[in-house]
Amino acid sequence: MQGAYREVYDSWKSDPEGFWREQARAIDWFSDPDRIFDKDMGTYGRWFPDAVANTCHNCLDRHVENGRGGQAALIYDSPVTGKKKTYSYSELLGEVTALAASIADLGVSKGDRVIIYMPMVPEAIMAMLACARLGAVHSVVFGGFAAAELATRIEDSQAKLVISASCGIEPGRIVSYKPLLDRAIEMVSTPPENTIIVQREEQVCDLVEGRDHDFLTLMEKNRGRDVACVPVAATDPLYILYTSGTTGQPKGVVRDTGGHMVALNWSMDAIYSVKPGEVYWAASDIGWVVGHSYIVYGPLLHGNTTIVFEGKPVGTPDAGTFWRIIEEYKVAALFTAPTAFRAIRKEDPKGEFIGKYDLSSLRTLFLAGERADPDTIQWAEAMLGVPVIDHWWQTETGWTIAGNPTGIEMLPVKHGSPAVAMPGYDIEVLDDAGHPVGPGTLGNIVVKLPLAPGNLPTLWNAEARFRDAYLTEFPGYYKTADAGYVDEDGYLFIMARTDDIINVAGHRLSTGGMEEAIASHPDVAECAVVGIADPMKGQLPAGFVVINSGVERDMADIEAEIVALVREKIGPVAAFKIVMTVNRLPKTRSGKILRATMQKIADGESWKMPATIDDPAILDEITATLRERGILKDGR
Ligand code: COA
Ligand code: AMP
Repeated sequence: MQGAYREVYDSWKSDPEGFWREQARAIDWFSDPDRIFDKDMGTYGRWFPDAVANTCHNCLDRHVENGRGGQAALIYDSPVTGKKKTYSYSELLGEVTALAASIADLGVSKGDRVIIYMPMVPEAIMAMLACARLGAVHSVVFGGFAAAELATRIEDSQAKLVISASCGIEPGRIVSYKPLLDRAIEMVSTPPENTIIVQREEQVCDLVEGRDHDFLTLMEKNRGRDVACVPVAATDPLYILYTSGTTGQPKGVVRDTGGHMVALNWSMDAIYSVKPGEVYWAASDIGWVVGHSYIVYGPLLHGNTTIVFEGKPVGTPDAGTFWRIIEEYKVAALFTAPTAFRAIRKEDPKGEFIGKYDLSSLRTLFLAGERADPDTIQWAEAMLGVPVIDHWWQTETGWTIAGNPTGIEMLPVKHGSPAVAMPGYDIEVLDDAGHPVGPGTLGNIVVKLPLAPGNLPTLWNAEARFRDAYLTEFPGYYKTADAGYVDEDGYLFIMARTDDIINVAGHRLSTGGMEEAIASHPDVAECAVVGIADPMKGQLPAGFVVINSGVERDMADIEAEIVALVREKIGPVAAFKIVMTVNRLPKTRSGKILRATMQKIADGESWKMPATIDDPAILDEITATLRERGILKDGR
């Protein structure tokens, strides 16, 4: 492969520090980076070890200083409440400063952790930026998680403050956040001293005297106060984002300050090909990494207009919502998960809604978060008439590992592949023994250390887990836990996870976490959760449950309780609705549950009888149950 991409990639590879030194010039530093990388600092080295900066300054203040004050920074569009509001860069700076003053008054300062548990409202983005302004470390918790998950995150981060809202709005139902927050606070050993609550008119909540503070009251008191951006080391954490690991205890992915700004700012040009001033829309949620990087930080660092959309691709009110937003705000680039397009296609297979809107501003559609199936890509290409670009990354990396760098060179699209390694990433495919495999051979996808700027330096309070989970199995490499292959042209194909993580509607979930929740049911002896294929959400969790002997209750009642239990413990986002009681689980002779085999059977894929299986007859029982439940159709 030759051309601009190859040139840029090679220039990075021959001089990584020179490459990132150059990109760092686009950032405003309080103290410029003199050294670019220190290989002896941290676990695998640290980027910009001697630089000092502030992320909020780079997202807001410097744009206002440079004449962007009147430009729209954030457009809030909420079909679920019927509200719309635009904030210019100056207005957003004013709101963020007032909130920073309020937070500081509550005793939060540099390094303190703040949990943000909020729906998709502008105040959530203000909260993130206000923390950044003070050098406080935010940790956003997705609104679809229940009290116990929220409690785990408050506990692990030892948050001093929680910023939340009275409610979220899902189609057809109001999600009362405050009771969930109150319950979470009861569960933790060191409760946060204060909370700030955005009261939404759709449902207001009670506030606990002395602990809960009304957002609006604080803002009214503090508007106009001056709060300077606190200088922090480039290596200081900007945020912690908890993501599913293989157990119920989530991993606190740490994002640093300097490398994150440099990498995201670079990606806006090189990967998404948008110019400052253009409208960029990531239709995701701030609870996920896509939301952190491309609703908040990437677009604002780069001087774009970002859209905060509180709605769904379908049903709010119809499958034309995305197109309305593109027309109304002249969106240049849209980034979403393939599942959103599958949902739209299901409602509007002929794209009749698409024809009703003027989509001439849209240049590119970007997809990530889960495997982009060729069928969905082809449909989107045909309907929208713009390039549809898949790209692959993870919460841990914070930005694209492999993609099509449309701002450098639009490479030919191969359906099913997120294309090629981005500068910053030296990707290899290894067999289980750690030997490189050739083109076309499936293996473990790994990234040669050091990781790129913006990637996680460690896990919060869990350095040993960081090494164990990512660095130990393939020494010298970061294990992505994705399996796949590289073709002759260097294009990557991401095929599956190598661990117990599943991807449901673009949401990353731990089957281990669900198993822990199910196992807490008093009638459950043991259980296994696997991700089975679903045409809309990509995967759906399915639980196989063995009930304690002697339990004489109706199995349907127990199954319903188990569904409710997972919703209660993890949250509705788990989308856990399939549970099957079985007599026994298939295991190896050493007692390991054969989850992968069960998943293959459920998906109707070909499978081999594992050599170490204890009792092969159990797989017949599982197959029969899957048939009975209609999951495995006749003939498969
Ligand atoms: N707060 C509270 N509950 C939430 C929530 C939130 N922020 N987000 C989702 N939920 C609930 C849903 O209401 C649903 O509840 P239900 O079981 O009562 O119906 C449940 O969690 C499962 O949600 P989801 O899997 O998202 O299904 P859905 O049917 O609500 O929507 C899609 C399906 C495809 C429309 C939706 O998943 C979507 O828009 N996905 C886009 C992908 C995306 O944003 N990915 C993020 C990473 S890029
Ligand atoms: P998350 O950390 O939630 O972003 O999830 C990361 C995981 O989602 C990856 O490890 C992959 O398994 C999957 N994933 C994300 N993007 C893609 C993609 N473009 N193609 C295939 N899988 C993807």
